[in-house]
Amino acid sequence: MLKCLGLSSGRKLVRVLEHPFCAKQCQMLANEKTARVIDGKSIAEEIRSAIAGEVRRMKECIGKIPGLAVILVGQRRDSQTYVRNKTRACEEAGIKSVMAELPDNCTEDEICNALSSFNKDPSVHGIIVQLPLPQHLDEGKIFNVLSLEKDVDGFHPLNMGNLAMRGRESLFIPCTPKGCIELLIRSGVEIMGKNAVVIGRSNIVGLPASLLLQRHHATVSIVHAFTKNPERITREADIVVTAAGVPNLVRGNWLKPGAVVIDVGTCPVEDPSCEHGYSLKGDVCYEEAIRVAAAITPVPGGVGPMTIAMLLSNTLDSAKRTYNFT
Ligand SMILES: NC(=O)c1ccc[n+]([C@@H]2O[C@H](COP(=O)([O-])OP(=O)(O)OC[C@H]3O[C@@H](n4cnc5c(N)ncnc54)[C@H](OP(=O)(O)O)[C@@H]3O)[C@@H](O)[C@H]2O)c1
Repeated sequence: MLKCLGLSSGRKLVRVLEHPFCAKQCQMLANEKTARVIDGKSIAEEIRSAIAGEVRRMKECIGKIPGLAVILVGQRRDSQTYVRNKTRACEEAGIKSVMAELPDNCTEDEICNALSSFNKDPSVHGIIVQLPLPQHLDEGKIFNVLSLEKDVDGFHPLNMGNLAMRGRESLFIPCTPKGCIELLIRSGVEIMGKNAVVIGRSNIVGLPASLLLQRHHATVSIVHAFTKNPERITREADIVVTAAGVPNLVRGNWLKPGAVVIDVGTCPVEDPSCEHGYSLKGDVCYEEAIRVAAAITPVPGGVGPMTIAMLLSNTLDSAKRTYNFT
């Protein structure tokens, strides 16, 4: 049961009313077994440290470093925080970052002009437009201006199309789904031949996650807001990737015993014990899921840190491609 409240950042703050446990779930809770926690934070740190090493090697060998440009529109507090985290991560890895900040009421043309100048700048190898944009702006029109070779978020329709088509390779894979697959691989989870369920079908997470899992030869089902009996479909899965943004959507009894669960959901939930009055919750009812799943990502500390690591990785790859540096 959920109730939406306002949040100064512009996102919805949700009050979660806990479900009473059913008898079967209580029995599961009594079970000693708990899932292995997939520590996204430490895996991401390892990746970021390897990227920093590669950036140093590039600088020593050819005197160049990768560069990332960020376009931030408006004053959303959550977007400002995400952008600050990304630019700080660049700094730590030795990647140059530049930013264009535009007001809430800016025009598409102003964003496209900023994009065009970053497209032309040879010291910029990756460009991101922080989403969501204010409602009056047409995302499609803006992403069409973004140079395919610098689309490190992988949102350009050609990058997405190439990801979907057999025999083609996209220049960049969207960071969050790429991070999910990396977590599975680095945690030793076999994907080939497994049944996977992706909850959510957005352009930035659900859709590319399902395409990537297929590329790794999983049999993929997609659950969305109109899916009938999502728990039955999810219970078939060996791997569950969930990106709905609905706290506690996935209950313990939605999971097959031994499933691996990657929780992308990140929703601010009312929490008076926290400094800002809210904490971040995933889509999965964690306390129940750890008693059923074999492995699970926490929220926070699971997928989130991997998204930033993958952004740095895509920016480094882009610079390497530009300078033909291997
Ligand atoms: N950790 C990270 O780095 C990271 C990165 C990106 C996003 N996120 C988080 O991931 C979540 C999803 O983000 P998004 O941008 O993909 O969101 P989105 O664009 O709102 O998409 C949500 C998707 O979930 C589906 N959905 C909504 N309610 C559902 C329900 N009750 N049952 C089944 N499916 C349902 C929707 O189905 P329909 O298509 O039918 O409407 C939609 O496809 C959010 O919490 C976001 O904050 C985290």
